[in-house]
Amino acid sequence: MALRTIIQRGEEREDWLRKRSRPVDKVDDRIKTIMDDMVETMREAKGAGLAAPQVGILRRMFVAEPEPGKLYYFINPEIISSEGARDSEEGCLSVPGYGGVVERPERITIKGLDREGKEQEYTFEGFYASVMCHEYDHLDGILYTDKAKAVQELDSDEEE
Ligand code: NI
Repeated sequence: MALRTIIQRGEEREDWLRKRSRPVDKVDDRIKTIMDDMVETMREAKGAGLAAPQVGILRRMFVAEPEPGKLYYFINPEIISSEGARDSEEGCLSVPGYGGVVERPERITIKGLDREGKEQEYTFEGFYASVMCHEYDHLDGILYTDKAKAVQELDSDEEE
């Protein structure tokens, strides 16, 4: 596995964060390697999720780890239902040093392929649902800062 460089807002490549990613045609070894690298990169950066466009790959896939050891892979995800609303405190590895509150669904059902290319479907609530929605948005070029009620600069001692 290898670490990938996370594209950040304000960089030359930031427009990659704004593109709509294309579906993955086939879950092959190359896709698996990218996903494994994304997991390593997410963990190194202490993030709860990471989407492929954030590492410069415009394909519809993301990894998420809302709690240590609870690791999910989503390829060609589709949110098939959502209900309720809650305020979600979020940050993004592509927007370091900032945080904000976004209204997200309380509960979602999401389906897609896993790392092995098998169909999976989950219902998530609360923080888990917010993480999945945040990563899903990246696949459509949407950042949480687009939806946030307010975005604040974090104290420098919180940034590490
Ligand atoms: Ni993000």
